[in-house]
Amino acid sequence: MLKIAVLVSGGGTNLQAIIDAVEGGTITNTQIEVVISNNKNAYALERAAAKGIEHICISPKDFESRAAFHAAFLEKLNTYQVDLVVLAGFLVVIWPEMIAAYKNRIINIHPSLIPSFCGTGYYGLKVHEGVLKRGVKITGATVHFVDEGTDTGPILLQKAVAVEEGDTPEILQRRVMEQAEWQILPEAIDRIANGRVRVADGKVCIR
Ligand code: GAR
Repeated sequence: MLKIAVLVSGGGTNLQAIIDAVEGGTITNTQIEVVISNNKNAYALERAAAKGIEHICISPKDFESRAAFHAAFLEKLNTYQVDLVVLAGFLVVIWPEMIAAYKNRIINIHPSLIPSFCGTGYYGLKVHEGVLKRGVKITGATVHFVDEGTDTGPILLQKAVAVEEGDTPEILQRRVMEQAEWQILPEAIDRIANGRVRVADGKVCIR
């Protein structure tokens, strides 16, 4: 059984997709041990509560320094002894100690086709604003392992989504979630849970 922690910051629709997939059997051999938010107002926490899933908030606002927040967060996360950490709209940059502690055991969903529209400053709606400003016709989403860079880790899964005439960032965000994110994030977890993912030479072999 793959034990996972899901890290969130906001609405939690990707968390919901994971919960639904575990309940519905599209994700197998997986248990959500805990949902952790850095934001106490995140609606994602209510989604976890509604399903009786352990949920906690560890906010940087409660600590004197970023270093103290990082240390407390990692210490708490470690107590759950999870096999995989899933960043599902977690808008905190992952720090070196956490990456070292969970090497190839942290995955992230990003709302574009990496390496386009990713890296520092590209998160949430800003990604879709960038897509519309550039005028690309195809966007999508990517699930990748987290390494020391921003959105630079080995890519697990990607799915393309069409940009349509008249799209606003909000409309496009919703389409990317519906047609890509809510499918490939659960799929990536299921493949990891069933031993179908291997990382070698910075690339993912998936079957
Ligand atoms: C999602 O679109 C996710 O891809 C994005 O934040 C949103 C969270 O929505 N993540 C990033 O931009 C990470 N760089 P949700 O809380 O409803 O799942």
